[in-house]
Amino acid sequence: MSKAQIIDGKACAKGVREKIKAVVTDLKESCGLTPGLAVVLVGADPASDIYVSNKVKQTVGAGMNSFEHRLPQETAQDDLLSLIEQLNGDDQVHGILVQLPLPDHIDEAKVIAAIDPLKDVDGFHSINAGRLSTGQPALVPCTPVGCVILAKKVKPDLTGLEAVVIGRSNIVGKPVAQLLLQENCTVTIAHSRTKNLADVVRRADLLVVAAGQQEMVRGTWIKPGAIVIDVGIHRLTTPEGKTKLVGDVAFDEAVKVAGAITPVPGGVGPMTIACLLRNTVVASYRSEGVEAPDLG
Ligand code: GUN
Repeated sequence: MSKAQIIDGKACAKGVREKIKAVVTDLKESCGLTPGLAVVLVGADPASDIYVSNKVKQTVGAGMNSFEHRLPQETAQDDLLSLIEQLNGDDQVHGILVQLPLPDHIDEAKVIAAIDPLKDVDGFHSINAGRLSTGQPALVPCTPVGCVILAKKVKPDLTGLEAVVIGRSNIVGKPVAQLLLQENCTVTIAHSRTKNLADVVRRADLLVVAAGQQEMVRGTWIKPGAIVIDVGIHRLTTPEGKTKLVGDVAFDEAVKVAGAITPVPGGVGPMTIACLLRNTVVASYRSEGVEAPDLG
């Protein structure tokens, strides 16, 4: 039985980061501009804490300014909104990221809406979602961009492919579908209410899974030779008591059928932060009224 090509997200993310570092060096030398990213964390969720620390580390590693704001769990919504207003007006800050989820007493939608769309490096603001869906220059959510970069590593021209996306979130499912439309795919968005999901998945030349359900997609669902991009990440404990990370796709089954597949970990995950740095550079250029060069 043939075995799929494993798409190395870690190596690809490293390549993106190196390109960004070179562009940042050039921006500093030619315009005296250092891109700056502000990251805001409210509370002390351990997973969010690790994500934020990695974002800060990689921002600094790329030669950019990092502004870290760690606020207590009980922070009032108005105080968070005031901080965002201050960051919106700060010329040193080109990108603003508020780590989600926020505590229950804070309205996430209100917070996202308060971020200047030109600094919204998560691409979650309605203005950016609308610009993406109408084909205008936008800041595009990081994980979806990472998915498309990885798929294009396998097949640089995705034109005409049957693409199936499982998941309809604003953060991954909907924006990745928009990006695949721009790549001239025929796109189906499937979700938890889709009938005969396995049959829908079997049509896919390109499958993006952001369902949030551990090992939901089985090997028998996959069209032989398909490109499979797995956005899921779940920590589980094996019968031997070890912890293991798995995705939304049953990897050991799928790898025998697919043409190419992303692993978990080491697939989509590393691309998300690389694309966040990329968006920060794009936002920095736009603050000067120009488009960024091709960042891969
Ligand atoms: N929490 C988990 N993933 C993300 C992300 O991509 N952006 C933000 N802001 N919060 C997150």
